[in-house]
Amino acid sequence: MAAHARMPPAKWPKLGGRATLALALALFLGVFVLRLSDPNVGDGEGVLFVVPVGVLALRFGLRGGLAAALVTFALVVAWDRYRHDAMLTTLGYLNRGFALLMLGALLGIFVDNRRRLEAELLRYYEHSLDLLATADLNGRFTRVNPAWERTLGHSAETMCSQPFIEFVHPEDREATLAEAGSLADGSRDTVGFRNRYRTADGSYRWLEWNVASASRSGGVLYAVARDIGAQRQAEQQLADNAKWLETMVAERTRELDDAHAEMLQRLAAAAEYHDDETSQHTRRVGITAAEIAAGLGLDAEQVRLLREAAQLHDVGKLAISDSLLRKRGKLSAREHEVMETHAALGARLLSGSSSPVLQMAAVVAESHHERWDGTGYPRGLAGEAIPLVGRVVAVADVFDALTHDRPYKDAWSVEQAIDEIRRTAGSHFDPRVAAAFLKLHEDALVAQESSSSQQRAPGTGAPRQGRRSPAIRPAPHGGLASSVSALTPPARSHMQ
Ligand SMILES: [Fe+2]
Repeated sequence: MAAHARMPPAKWPKLGGRATLALALALFLGVFVLRLSDPNVGDGEGVLFVVPVGVLALRFGLRGGLAAALVTFALVVAWDRYRHDAMLTTLGYLNRGFALLMLGALLGIFVDNRRRLEAELLRYYEHSLDLLATADLNGRFTRVNPAWERTLGHSAETMCSQPFIEFVHPEDREATLAEAGSLADGSRDTVGFRNRYRTADGSYRWLEWNVASASRSGGVLYAVARDIGAQRQAEQQLADNAKWLETMVAERTRELDDAHAEMLQRLAAAAEYHDDETSQHTRRVGITAAEIAAGLGLDAEQVRLLREAAQLHDVGKLAISDSLLRKRGKLSAREHEVMETHAALGARLLSGSSSPVLQMAAVVAESHHERWDGTGYPRGLAGEAIPLVGRVVAVADVFDALTHDRPYKDAWSVEQAIDEIRRTAGSHFDPRVAAAFLKLHEDALVAQESSSSQQRAPGTGAPRQGRRSPAIRPAPHGGLASSVSALTPPARSHMQ
């Protein structure tokens, strides 16, 4: 398809000024002579003067139309003077003069307005910052405005000489063809479509397109594109800033989380400091509780929270006197009552926080001495009325207490402690939680056995270290500050 690089050619005859004047003069004379040559002439031939009036009005606008009307009127008068028998009345002259002036003026005004509109459109077309184009359904531009050359450096002839897809960045061609297909089949307009166009120096610039579908524009695509290079740069800058901010927020959040976790650990350590200066008991209870929770199928976030929250289970001990916490031997009934208050005190200390960890810790602190059969404290809850996290921490706490030394009692073996957990499942502990704990133990034993077998087998290469769950590995030492102070069943502890 032939390319028309600029505005469409005008529909009016492109005669020069002198040629138009000569044509109009010939038409005037022709009509005048025609009237003179007809002995029975009437107003019919006079109407032919409309032709030269139209020619001059179309060429010269209002001034041409008015001049032509005056000439026509002069010829009419001259003809009447020559043909004395056809003299008009004054009113007749006025009628004809008015009609001719109106004809010339209206035609001239119409032409002037049309030209003014064309000039405005042309100025917009020529000076627009937007890239204006029409394209056919064969994938070629048929017309582009000068903004294309200013933006991409290609002449209008170049833009129209090859399929537009050849200017599109290879990575954007598939999407561009799909978009063009939608335009061609009329399924939708294009609004805000972006792709990259090649410039004359071989680089690419981002353009954003708005195009009316072919079905709404008579099979021709009228497109408006805009260079969004600066916008893309700004968007990229914003995206980079957002990413930087996101990184900074994540870093600060991590620092806060670390500080938070450390604060909780120090708080837990303070509660256990009376008889566990290394804080290993609280840490182990947190780990064991988290492993049991994972075994029960709690989601990762709940497991993470419980790992921290469980460490605060005895934070209420901060309110218990040192003499009572360090007392050797059996506690009196009154002393037991005081000791048992640590659960409710811990819950009161931790409650009211917006922190999920502290909220869970408050629940754990209050419920970790409840028993499945309802004989625990402080509320004597039974079964599933006891919060699950409390039931989990109860097992982890008791197991850790049993398997570690105390000043007044040696540690049990893991096997003894496991037997005790198994024996009291259904009375002290939730059977399901106890089963999950025992499963951890069994898995650890299997892993340990497998590791030992590999180490004993000849020719198996370097021995592998067997995995043992920290939940069931008794620490080599450590004072205990657990909820179970009695290390020999069925004696009751300070905390029970
Ligand atoms: Fe406790």
